[in-house]
Formats: sequence, C-alpha cells, structure tokens
Amino acid sequence: YPMPTLTGDAALQVEAVPLTAIAEQFGTPTYVYSRAALTEAFQAYQHALAGRRASICYAVKANSNLGILNAFARLGAGFDIVSGGELQRVIAAGGDAAKVVFSGVGKTSVEMRQALDAGIRCFNVESAAELDRLASVAAECGKVAPIAFRVNPDVDPKTHPYISTGLKNNKFGVAFDDAIALYRKAATLPGIAIKGIASHIGSQLLDPAPAGEAAERVLTLVEQLATEGITLAHIDIGGGMGIRYSDETPPVADDYLAPVLKALADRSEEILLEPGRSLIGNAGLLLTRIEYLKPGQEKHFAVVDAAMNDLARPALYDAFHEVVPVIARDLPAQTYDVVGPICESGDFLARNRALKVADGDLLAILSAGAYGMTMASNYNTRARAAEVMVDGKQCHLIRERENIADLFALERRLPD
Ligand code: LLP
Repeated sequence: YPMPTLTGDAALQVEAVPLTAIAEQFGTPTYVYSRAALTEAFQAYQHALAGRRASICYAVKANSNLGILNAFARLGAGFDIVSGGELQRVIAAGGDAAKVVFSGVGKTSVEMRQALDAGIRCFNVESAAELDRLASVAAECGKVAPIAFRVNPDVDPKTHPYISTGLKNNKFGVAFDDAIALYRKAATLPGIAIKGIASHIGSQLLDPAPAGEAAERVLTLVEQLATEGITLAHIDIGGGMGIRYSDETPPVADDYLAPVLKALADRSEEILLEPGRSLIGNAGLLLTRIEYLKPGQEKHFAVVDAAMNDLARPALYDAFHEVVPVIARDLPAQTYDVVGPICESGDFLARNRALKVADGDLLAILSAGAYGMTMASNYNTRARAAEVMVDGKQCHLIRERENIADLFALERRLPD
C-alpha cells in the first residue's frame, strides 16, 4: 500500500504525521488522507497518457470533500459529476466547470439548467428521453448543450455485480444498437451540440482487457458516425481501474490503459477518463479507536468507535478492508471481528482478523479513501467523522466532525 508507513518505533504514520497525533488533535473516528498519495495516483495516469491529448476527469462520487477536489483541481483535473450538488462542490472547490462531464441516468431539468449556466464541458446522455429533455431545457435558456451518449458496450468487466455497469441488463447508458439512431436524432436538434461518446463498464476492474474491448466496440460506432458526417471531439472511456484492498494485484495505470491506447492509437479525438477509486481509494484510511474488547464463546469482538455509518462498504458489499493497529504490541494475536456500536448485525468493518490489540488502541482501516465518507450516513444519530488531509509534516482539517445539534437542525417539533 502507498500508505500508511511504519515509523522506527513501530507506530503508523501518514507521510510525516503519526496517526497517534491525529487522533489526539482531532479525535476519532477520523478519515485521514495523504496528499502525496493522491498526487502520485494522478500522476500515474498522466504518465500513462503522456503524448496523448487527454483529460482526467476525477469521479467526484468517490470522495467529494472540497479539500480533495481542490487538490485534484490544482493538479489540472477535470471532474465527472452525477448531480447538481456535485457541480456546486466542484465550483466551490475551485474546479473549472469547463472541464466537467455530467453522467447519470436521472438528471433533472433543474440540474440541466444549473450545468448549462455553469458552462460544463459535456452531458453524458443516457436515454432518448433525457436527450429530448435536455434539448428543451437548452432551448428555454437560450443555450446549446454539449453532449455525448453514454453507450453500453455490453462488455463483462468481471467485477462485483453491484458495481458492474456495462452489461445489457442494467439501467446505465443507451443500448449499443440504438446509439447511431440517437446520434442522428441529436444532430437535428438545435439546442444540442454533439461533442463525444462515452462508456463506463464497471468499477474495481482488475483486468485491463475489458476496458480495451469496450474502447474497440465504441470505436466501431465512432467510425460509423464519421461516414455519416458526425464527427466527435472526444472519446470518454469512463473510470473503473481497481485498487489493492487485500491480495489483489491491480494493474498500474500504464498497464490498465495500454489496451485502450492501443485501440485508439490512430485516432485524433481527445481521450477522457473518469477514474474515482484508483485516484483516492488507497490515499485514505479511517482511523478509529477500540472502545471495548469483548471476548465471546465462538469469537472475539473488537468494538470500535467507527461503524457502518462511517464506512458502509463491508456491510453493503461484504468488502474487505485491511485493519492495522497503529501501535504494534507484543501480545498474542487473537482473532477478532471489528464491529461498530450500531444496532445491526451487519455493522462490521472487518471479520476474522488476527490482531494484537488492547482496549483503547487505535486501528487504521485501510483503502478507505474512495466510497467511504461519500457513502457515510447519520444512522443511529451518529455525527459523521472528521476528515484530515496530511501534506508532508502538515495536517489540514478538511471537514470538521459534525455536531449533533446540526443533525436535527432542519427538523421541527409539531405545533402545540
Ligand atoms: N464514471 C461513471 C459513469 C461511474 O458510474 C463511476 C462509478 C465512475 C466513473 C468511477 O468509477 P471508479 O473509477 O471509481 O471505479 N460504491 C461502490 C462503487 C460504485 C461505483 C459507481 N460508479 C464501491 O464502494 O465499491
């Protein structure tokens, strides 16, 4: 893993900051990110794309904290958004709306108007009905909407069914066989300007081949459109590159993109990418403290102060996150389920882990930078965690811990 690292006295640190110091200053649970790690991940993509006209549009849903968006904006990133809310975040974080692509099957008229006013780069249109809606919204505000169709290439990404999105039987994108007719129609609409084509086949992809196949399939459409005089400025190949959670061996960006770049080698269109997890997943961890060790007859439990409301992935997908004690102890290892205080059997962060720990110890839940905080909730009226960005020796609070009064500030008692 790129982070955290061990110090000489066997305590974990992120860059030059010990996790013990972060826990002391900000409390727990706290998400901790490494600016160096996210920068390195971004630069790995830039390296893979060197010599190609390309734009890396960070998928905001993976982690939408303003501090993180700001770090990516400063690296020159564009952004892939899925809501008007994410657009507002990008702008508030100093991102450039002209580098934003807007994905999603359910864009509302209000969101379309917002995005047109902001001057985004492209709407990735996912249905015929959405095209009609966008054309009329654009006409109402006297604007021309730049579009790509998100085409479903029907390629099996070989990943978890919940996060596989490019197969025929899911809700995303327009069917491959309908794409040409939709482009023909779009070309006749005054409020619409055809800019590109998009596809996204799934997430946590460990095999580079399916992305290459998808690019080849998309390219056949691009060539067919060209014969009809419909030319495109960009080809958006989506996100999806996987990361290491336990013993996976994910490709590096160079290898992941090789089949795509090969497929598109003779093309002059700009390549767009929408990576999320691979840019931020391994650049973040969730720091939590053991409240109680609870020995059981069948198994032992480490009850921690983080829970499924902070990190939903284990409960939701049975996802594996590595758990590492912040301070190494000379104790016999015991097998624990690491669980939170929430009243659900599904409230676990890790199961059957051999740990050498005592009451009050800090644990780092690794690879939690992507789809961690963005999927957090307030279930059990739990304030969401603080978020901290480490940058060398410095440590920036990028989100305060919520306070409970804020959680019900929008609620009202009934009238007397
Ligand atoms: N573009 C589109 C259109 C997407 O739907 C997604 C992710 C991405 C890009 C970014 O994919 P990435 O590079 O992060 O794989 N909550 C799940 C993951 C859901 C992914 C949804 N779409 C998880 O925690 O594993």
